[in-house]
Amino acid sequence: MYNVDDIRADFPVFSKKQGKKPFVYLDTAASAQKPQCVIDKICEIYQTTYANVHRGLYDMAERVTSYYEEARIVIQNFIHAKSASEIVFTRNATESINLVASSWALNNLSLNDEVLISEAEHHANLVCWQIVAQKTGAKLKIFKINDDGTYNEEEFEKCLNPKVKLVAVTAMSNVLGTVFPVKEIIRAAHLVGAKVLIDACQSIVHQKADVQDLDCDFLAFSGHKLYGPTGIGVLYAKSDILNDMPPYQTGGDMVDKVTYQKTTYAPAPARFEAGTPAFVQAIGLAQAIKYVLSLGFDDIQAHESSLISYFNEQASLLKGFKIIGTAPDKGSVMAFDFCSIHPQDLAFVLSHEGVAIRIGHHCAEPLVNRMGYSSICRASFGLYTTKSDIDAFFSALQKAKHFF
Ligand code: ALA
Repeated sequence: MYNVDDIRADFPVFSKKQGKKPFVYLDTAASAQKPQCVIDKICEIYQTTYANVHRGLYDMAERVTSYYEEARIVIQNFIHAKSASEIVFTRNATESINLVASSWALNNLSLNDEVLISEAEHHANLVCWQIVAQKTGAKLKIFKINDDGTYNEEEFEKCLNPKVKLVAVTAMSNVLGTVFPVKEIIRAAHLVGAKVLIDACQSIVHQKADVQDLDCDFLAFSGHKLYGPTGIGVLYAKSDILNDMPPYQTGGDMVDKVTYQKTTYAPAPARFEAGTPAFVQAIGLAQAIKYVLSLGFDDIQAHESSLISYFNEQASLLKGFKIIGTAPDKGSVMAFDFCSIHPQDLAFVLSHEGVAIRIGHHCAEPLVNRMGYSSICRASFGLYTTKSDIDAFFSALQKAKHFF
């Protein structure tokens, strides 16, 4: 039985008073709160097993190195990668995508090639492709989505042709919650010879990922949205592609042999982890994944689906409330407009009521503009969100309506 009250007790932030009102956290899509076991794991490493990894030959250094490499195996199993050497630790999903852009794309794309992305991409999966296009002469193409935020297969197919060398798409929009049919997109892209990068930053928290079943070439996500620490992210890439990619950054631990004249590089993943990596955070992320898996992915999904239904029901009762992005089976990311009240004003009143939401362009400015707004509000849920959080949100909105 999924008992959300018991689960909330695992998150110390919810047991401390944050102000006069109960803390209603509806900004999990921006970053998730942390369970005690993750916080404890990080403290434990700093307090008992702290030394640099891959360098020392003493006991503590060897133990922490093995924890770091075990964390890589936890990630490998979590996303069903064939090998742990296909898992590169990065700072976050943004850095993972930048790594692919700087290393793979700059060395594999040229004039007349095309990169295809959707209208629903986060800046992290857009700006780097603009730079790749400027540097290589390749063309950046953007396929349209529907006005309700759903995927448009016809538009995707229209843009797909043998010139496309990379399709880079989100598996779940951070603004609209739309779940993209990435398996079909990957299959179609492979038929024209394109590689596919999946931005799994939002989806990794809500859907099981199986990179072998998907057959994606690259997949990126951040640890902090997955109830893990900040400063740690993952890039998965198929080993044959990764082993052909030149280094992205250089420094210690990514080399094979260095002389004053010449350097040869370590195999992947070490080649892409220059300098001291965020190993405590990687170990913390593995702990977060173990925690999520202990709750059961199916149960978390069922809980979040019931929250979405409840939110939709309550929203339909409130005049002037409009959900932006109404794809069926969307993730628990609810962008909205309420009576055209300016998002900043609304967030201010909600914050006064103890309710935390995100407003603005959500690092997806072209998408927000394409939906007809310059700024929107967003409420998002996690495994610890309750129906009473949603009730508190809607009653705070009533107060805002009264106020404005
Ligand atoms: N990408 C994160 C969000 O959607 C920060 O809020």
